[in-house]
Amino acid sequence: MAAILVCSRAGENLIEGQLKKLGIGNTQILAEKLSEQLQCPLYTLDPVEPYPESYRAMVEHAKKEKAANDFPRYQTVPSAFFKERILFVGFPNWWGSYPRIVASFLKDHHFDGKIIFPFCTHEGSGFGNSLEDFKKTCPEA
Ligand SMILES: Cc1cc2nc3c(=O)[nH]c(=O)nc-3n(C[C@H](O)[C@H](O)[C@H](O)COP(=O)(O)O)c2cc1C
Repeated sequence: MAAILVCSRAGENLIEGQLKKLGIGNTQILAEKLSEQLQCPLYTLDPVEPYPESYRAMVEHAKKEKAANDFPRYQTVPSAFFKERILFVGFPNWWGSYPRIVASFLKDHHFDGKIIFPFCTHEGSGFGNSLEDFKKTCPEA
């Protein structure tokens, strides 16, 4: 019926103005709650090249990826995810939209006839431009 895909980064992050090391990323925590409540499987969208551990290095890395319109490589998502009609896709807001790895994933697949529920964690900017970006990238969903 439904499945969840989440992009989330553990490690150093800025929490209420302080650098803190998170064992589990914020969006991953939310995705796990959703998976439990909806009783549906959860898959992760992981980069082939691991993200920088340091928050500041991560911010710079993501800035460059965005400026270059990069399509970073990601690890294979199990085929079971694509069999479902209702897809939840979770991500952090990075520089005003979804991380470029989500752009790579959306570009590589067709979502005809699927219903996508995006969900996002952020530090104040909400979804930013990500909902518009979803509509542009997978207009058939
Ligand atoms: C590279 C980077 C860019 C970010 N850009 C934004 C932003 O533009 N707006 C915002 O509200 N939060 C921004 N944040 C904060 C994250 O969206 C927030 O910490 C999120 O919960 C992280 O999710 P995660 O732990 O699942 O990776 C950014 C964080 C990082 C690491």
